[in-house]
Amino acid sequence: MEKARQKLIVALDFPSLEPAFELAQSLAHLVCMFKINIYLFTAAGPAAVEKLRQLGSEIFLDLKFHDIPNTVSGAVSSAFSLPGVRLLNIHALGGLDMMRAAANVRDTSKLPGPQRPKVLGVTILTSMDNAALKNVGIAGPPAKRVVSLAKLAKKAGLDGVVASPEEARAIRRACGKDFLIVVPGVRPSVEGGSGRASKRLKDDQARYATPAKAIRDGADFLVVGRPITAAPDPVAAAQAILDEIASALP
Ligand code: C5P
Repeated sequence: MEKARQKLIVALDFPSLEPAFELAQSLAHLVCMFKINIYLFTAAGPAAVEKLRQLGSEIFLDLKFHDIPNTVSGAVSSAFSLPGVRLLNIHALGGLDMMRAAANVRDTSKLPGPQRPKVLGVTILTSMDNAALKNVGIAGPPAKRVVSLAKLAKKAGLDGVVASPEEARAIRRACGKDFLIVVPGVRPSVEGGSGRASKRLKDDQARYATPAKAIRDGADFLVVGRPITAAPDPVAAAQAILDEIASALP
């Protein structure tokens, strides 16, 4: 089960620190990282990172920076000074120079190598399908765009990408075994074990898959939010997802 635990990141998408911390306390023994996104960070700020770090868990700081290179490198430097941040991300659509600026912050950091956060590129949001991409003037299909953005992130020197589980296999093939692949859009199997992801629980995710499929397709980390945080029994829901992950590990 420890191997499965090292794959699971729980997204603490809460409006304030108190409920996030309360849930995190009950889940800390089941997950390797907690993810803080713009929802909680805008409400609670760096204190959220400091408080969650007290549980001994590491943090995925999911603030998806997207700005000019100079501004992004400043924001990444600030993120590097927070305790326990293991992963942080920027939008790959910000371009090669912006991603290179972020990678440069990592490379020139005074932190010892193993303590340096890994910098990930967000490819195409897992809530976007073909039609949504077309609306913003980006030619689909999403899988094609995701793989080319992943290659660009690799060229810029990033450590990996955030992508949908649907694209994990193609990214692994294109970017090699050491490139980190972090996947949100994970939905547990439907009851009865058909192996299909639950549509009832899909929420606003358009490109999603089960934990077992995501692992088999080469994902390094799975980000799960509402299937755990909104479950009647979050500990049992996390445990069931760990079981699905474990069933797919070699
Ligand atoms: O509740 P759910 O499991 O859908 O939560 C997914 C989490 O992953 C949210 O915190 C969301 O911000 C994040 N995320 C995502 N798609 C991306 C990147 C991050 O859904 N491409």
